Amino acid sequence: MAISHCSASTKLAWILALLLILVTTTIQVHCQSPPGFISIDCGFTNTSAYNDSITGIQFDPDSRFVEGGLSNKISAEFIAGSDEQQKTLRSFPNGSRNCYTLPSTTGTKYMLRATFTYGNYDGLNKTRDGSLFLFGLHIGVNFWEAVNMTNWDPSSTIWKEIITVAPANSVSVCLINFGSGTPFVSALELRPLQDLMYPFVNTSVSISYFRRIRFGAATDFITRFSLDPYDRFWEGWPFTYPWIPLNTSSRVRRLPGDNTFQVPEGILQGATTLDTNYSFLEISVGVGPNLDAKNLQLLPIFHFAEINSSNPSRRFDIYSNDELLFADFSPSRFQADSMHQNGRFLHNPTATFRLSKTRRSRLPPLINAFELYSLVRMDNLTTDSDDVNYIKEVTKHYNLARINWNGDPCSPREYSWEGLTCDYSKSNQNPRIVAVNLSTSGLKGGLVISFMNMVSLENLDLSHNNLTGAIPDYQIKSLKVLDLSYNQLDGPIPDSILQRSQAGLLDLRFACTVAQFLLF
Ligand SMILES: *[C@@H]1O[C@H](CO)[C@@H](O)[C@H](O)[C@H]1NC(C)=O
Ligand SMILES: *[C@@H]1O[C@H](CO)[C@@H](O)[C@H](O)[C@H]1NC(C)=O
Ligand SMILES: *[C@@H]1O[C@H](CO)[C@@H](O)[C@H](O)[C@H]1NC(C)=O
Ligand SMILES: *[C@@H]1O[C@H](CO)[C@@H](O)[C@H](O)[C@H]1NC(C)=O
Ligand SMILES: *[C@@H]1O[C@H](CO)[C@@H](O)[C@H](O)[C@H]1NC(C)=O
Ligand SMILES: *[C@@H]1O[C@H](CO)[C@@H](O)[C@H](O)[C@H]1NC(C)=O
Ligand SMILES: *[C@@H]1O[C@H](CO)[C@@H](O)[C@H](O)[C@H]1NC(C)=O
Ligand SMILES: *[C@@H]1O[C@H](CO)[C@@H](O)[C@H](O)[C@H]1NC(C)=O
Ligand SMILES: *[C@@H]1O[C@H](CO)[C@@H](O)[C@H](O)[C@H]1NC(C)=O
Ligand SMILES: *[C@@H]1O[C@H](CO)[C@@H](O)[C@H](O)[C@H]1NC(C)=O
Ligand SMILES: *[C@@H]1O[C@H](CO)[C@@H](O)[C@H](O)[C@H]1NC(C)=O
Ligand SMILES: *[C@@H]1O[C@H](CO)[C@@H](O)[C@H](O)[C@H]1NC(C)=O
Repeated sequence: MAISHCSASTKLAWILALLLILVTTTIQVHCQSPPGFISIDCGFTNTSAYNDSITGIQFDPDSRFVEGGLSNKISAEFIAGSDEQQKTLRSFPNGSRNCYTLPSTTGTKYMLRATFTYGNYDGLNKTRDGSLFLFGLHIGVNFWEAVNMTNWDPSSTIWKEIITVAPANSVSVCLINFGSGTPFVSALELRPLQDLMYPFVNTSVSISYFRRIRFGAATDFITRFSLDPYDRFWEGWPFTYPWIPLNTSSRVRRLPGDNTFQVPEGILQGATTLDTNYSFLEISVGVGPNLDAKNLQLLPIFHFAEINSSNPSRRFDIYSNDELLFADFSPSRFQADSMHQNGRFLHNPTATFRLSKTRRSRLPPLINAFELYSLVRMDNLTTDSDDVNYIKEVTKHYNLARINWNGDPCSPREYSWEGLTCDYSKSNQNPRIVAVNLSTSGLKGGLVISFMNMVSLENLDLSHNNLTGAIPDYQIKSLKVLDLSYNQLDGPIPDSILQRSQAGLLDLRFACTVAQFLLF
């Protein structure tokens, strides 16, 4: 099944009706991926990229962005109706956390989307065997959302989107094994936004997509790139009497300088209203099995533009559940107004929003588009970036493939790398690596200098390996314990290290094998 079929919605009848139209009206476009788009087809094993036949966006195989995991294909019965990206996936049977690392620009705002189509790739009917099928997602070192595929249609796609600020020169997305089913992912898409968009998103606050709806009579179930240059997914919304679609071919403009949401004009040119004898319009987006409504903190954004060209009187109140958010609002003619409360998150377990005609109004409410997000706190900090770079150099130099050496080294604490000790004591500062224990790790070759560069490292245990060559003469900074016992290193011990040791600043352990002892 295609991405056009993905939905948290239960309006199945409508979806199916629309699908029939969709299948026959898919238009082939060929346009170049905009700069900064990173699009990854997970589990895709061809060596070269391809251009998606519908969006024209270039998708790359995932091997450059991830280690470990297995490439899989969805079951043959689901291949035919499926979008290219949903045909393959990468599953992670091993390890409690497995991460993809995507290049980014530090401090830039991004939209990141992950899609999941199970497609019975393992032949085990995991979505239909009655057991819980649930795994987690981290955005960097913070919990993003759970993916719940329990009782899910195996051909349907779940998608998750988050708007977040890149904390460093890469953004990682991690799949977390909760012990209830093997995590997997079908595609990852990273889209740069302008920094002034979604101004309430910053380094400590991200927002996760809940629903994004375009009203009016949309012809596609999902509207995305290239109508939306940021490739956000806008879902169509069913209208049955008394809901009435409106559309216009006139320009619908934004106020100069209003670039906060950049809703595409083609979306603002459509709206939904009601038969004139009705007085309120309710948007109830439903929560579905994928989200835990009770604990959600929601941020709604309503987009309005009056597109009735006669000069109508239209005024309404905007409610979240029973809370009045905006009183007596009147949409401007052919001009976009985006109503939101400056990043205030609301408690609204039923996710119901109501537009109610006021007494002075002649016409019932109208709405053009609607976005709803939930709060994702970014409280946990990533490991100091120098430490990360140096420990990664170590990993690369010794070709270390440790199952849990994946994602951030220290954060979050319960997923920190085995053999590392981190200092989390300064809560507003990035964690630092203070001890590395690579004893008995099969290390071969010379002693890599990267260790010496880690300015917070106090304890380094490299005993019981096959390290060879000389100990580099290097000014070590913070090291208090250095254990090089049981390797094949050659003397002499350089002055830089010897002096610290003799001054009692460094506990140097250098037990030798008998053969080595004879060499000294
Ligand atoms: C992947 O490679 C196979 C075999 O070379 C080819 O038939 C197929 O079209 C390729 N898929 C894509 C999406 O490029
Ligand atoms: C994708 O499209 C772009 C622009 O048309 C083209 O330059 C590129 O070669 C295409 N890539 C593939 C793999 O076909
Ligand atoms: C998972 O771990 C097992 C046992 O350690 C190993 O044989 C297998 O190759 C690993 N699979 C993957 C996908 O890493
Ligand atoms: C999976 O479900 C399909 C259809 O419901 C059924 O034909 C098949 O036997 C099931 N396979 C397993 C391994 O349970
Ligand atoms: C931050 O890390 C702590 C400890 O590892 C964890 O319990 C918590 O859930 C994390 N917070 C977020 C927002 O992910
Ligand atoms: C991020 O935004 C929230 C409100 O949206 C604000 O309370 C917080 O101080 C901001 N944090 C930073 C680091 O700017
Ligand atoms: C837009 O509205 C006009 C009449 O105002 C109608 O003829 C046309 O079919 C509508 N288009 C869509 C896509 O609903
Ligand atoms: C509105 O008018 C229609 C007929 O035009 C009627 O079928 C419907 O019941 C009326 N609804 C209300 C709420 O009065
Ligand atoms: C997952 O979905 C199933 C089926 O809809 C539901 O019964 C279960 O409560 C959900 N679990 C979580 C943790 O969301
Ligand atoms: C447009 O506005 C006029 C004037 O108020 C009104 O009579 C008409 O019903 C409106 N059309 C729609 C579709 O709301
Ligand atoms: C390093 O780990 C080994 C076991 O893997 C342990 O015997 C040794 O004491 C550890 N070294 C330090 C300094 O904690
Ligand atoms: C070191 O290498 C020797 C042979 O070169 C091998 O016999 C020994 O097992 C290795 N030791 C470790 C700890 O890997």
